[in-house]
Amino acid sequence: MEFLNNFVLPQSAEHIELLHYMLLIVLFLFIPFISIVFGGIFLSIIYKNKAHKSNDNNYLRLSKDIAEITTINKSAGFIFGIIPLLTAILIYSQLLHNSGITNLNYLGLALVFIVIALVFIYSYRYSLSFNRIFGSLSDKSITDPLVIEDVNKLSDESNRISQKAGNFGLLFLFIGIWFFITALTIPSIYSSWNVESFIGGLFSWKVLSRFIYYIFFALTLSGGMILFIYLEDEKKKRIKDEEYSHFLKQKVLRVTFFSAIFIPLFALISLFGLPQSALTGTVFTYAIISLALLFMGYHFIYLLTKEIKGTTAALLFFTLVFSVAAFIISDQKAMATSTQVHSAMLSAEFDKYLAELKGEGKTISINAEEIYQVKCASCHKWDQKLVGPAHMDVLPKYVGKESQLIAFIRNPVKVDPAYPPMPNPALKPNEADAVAKYLLETYNEKNK
Ligand code: HEC
Repeated sequence: MEFLNNFVLPQSAEHIELLHYMLLIVLFLFIPFISIVFGGIFLSIIYKNKAHKSNDNNYLRLSKDIAEITTINKSAGFIFGIIPLLTAILIYSQLLHNSGITNLNYLGLALVFIVIALVFIYSYRYSLSFNRIFGSLSDKSITDPLVIEDVNKLSDESNRISQKAGNFGLLFLFIGIWFFITALTIPSIYSSWNVESFIGGLFSWKVLSRFIYYIFFALTLSGGMILFIYLEDEKKKRIKDEEYSHFLKQKVLRVTFFSAIFIPLFALISLFGLPQSALTGTVFTYAIISLALLFMGYHFIYLLTKEIKGTTAALLFFTLVFSVAAFIISDQKAMATSTQVHSAMLSAEFDKYLAELKGEGKTISINAEEIYQVKCASCHKWDQKLVGPAHMDVLPKYVGKESQLIAFIRNPVKVDPAYPPMPNPALKPNEADAVAKYLLETYNEKNK
C-alpha cells in the first residue's frame, strides 16, 4: 500500500482532529451496514438450508425476506459499503503516515474481500427472487409436461447458483470483516502493541474479542432491523398472513435474544485489552453508554416477547444502532489517545513546512536558553525534581530521538502517574526545536 503515500498531504493539528471526526462518520455508516448485511445473509442461508431439509415453505420465504430487508438494494451496498471503506483507507493513510503502524495492509485486503463479497451477496439476493418466481410458476396450473420439466430444471439450476453465491459471499464477508476489525484494532493500542506478524495480528485475543463482539452485534442488529422493517411493511399491507407473520417473529426474536446476551462479555474484554494510557475517562464513558443502551435493548427484546409491536421493534433497532455507535466512538477516542504523539509529530512537520513556505525560521535567530528560562525553569531543574521531573531523569530516553522530544514539548501527553500532567507551553515550532536541541546538548555536556 506504499502508493498511498502519494496522497498524503501535510496536516495541521486542526486537520488531524477533523480527520478523526470524518473517520467516525465514515465508520458510523459502514459498521452498522456491513454488520446488518453479514447477519442477514448468515440467517438467510441458514433458513434456506432448513427449507430444503424440512420442505417447509415458510423457511424459504423467511430466507428471501431476510435477504431482501437486510441488503436493502445494490446502491446501498455501494454507498454504505464500498465508498466509506475507501474513504477510511485514505483517512488512515493520512493519520498514520510515517508511523510504522501497519494497518493499511489489512485495510486493503478488507476492501478486496468485501467488494467481492458484496458482488456475490447481491447476486444471491436477486437470485432468491427468481427462485420464488420459478417456485410459484411450477405451482400454477401449467399442464404441458414439457414446460413443467423446463421450469423445474431452470429452478434447480438457479437454486444451485444462488446457494453458491450466498456461501461464497458469506465466507468472503467474514474474512473481509476480520481484516477490517484487525485494521481498526491496531491503532487503538498502538503505543503498547506492535503486530509481530501478519497472522499473529489476526489471531491476537485483542482482535478476536472485538471481532466476536461485532459478529454477535451483527446478528442482534440484523434481528432488530428485520423485525422493525417487517412490521412496518405489514402495517401497510391489507392482506395479512397471520401464520407466516407469527413464524417470522418467533424465529427472528430468538436469534436477536440469544446473540444479544453475549455482547457485554466481549465488549468488556476488548475494553480491557486497551493499554492503560488509552483508557481515558472519555473512552470509558462511551463504553458505558454503549452498554447502557444495550441493556435498554434487552428491555425492548423482553417487551417484544410479551407483545410484538412495531414501535417496540423500532426502539430496539435504534437503541442498538446507538449502542454500536457509542462503542465506535469509545474505540476511536482510544485510537486518538494512542496516536497522540504521532499526531503531534505530523503537525510539527506541517508547521515546519508552513514556516518554510513563508520563508520564516531561517532569518530569525532564537535564543533557546532564554526561552527555557522563561517557559520551563519554573517547573524543571536539571538534577532535582520540582513541579516536573528532573531533566537528568527523563532525558535519557530522548537521546537520539529529538523529534519525539519536540513532539512532547509541543504537545505534552501524560507520562508518569507520579506527576500531574505538564501544561502545554505553547511554543512556536522553531522555538520547540531549539529548546529540544538545547536540552539534549546540555544533557550531553553534563554527562561528559
Ligand atoms: C507548569 C509546570 C511545567 C512547565 C512550565 C514545564 N513543565 Fe515539563 N513537565 C512538567 C510535569 C508535571 C511533567 C511530568 C509529566 C508527566 O510525567 O506526565 C513534565 C515532564 C517533562 C518532560 C519529561 C517527559 C517524559 O517523557 O517523561 C520533559 C522533557 C519536559 N517536561 C520538558 C519541559 C520543557 C522543555 C518545558 C518548557 C518549554 C517544560 N517542560 C515546561 C511540568 C512543567
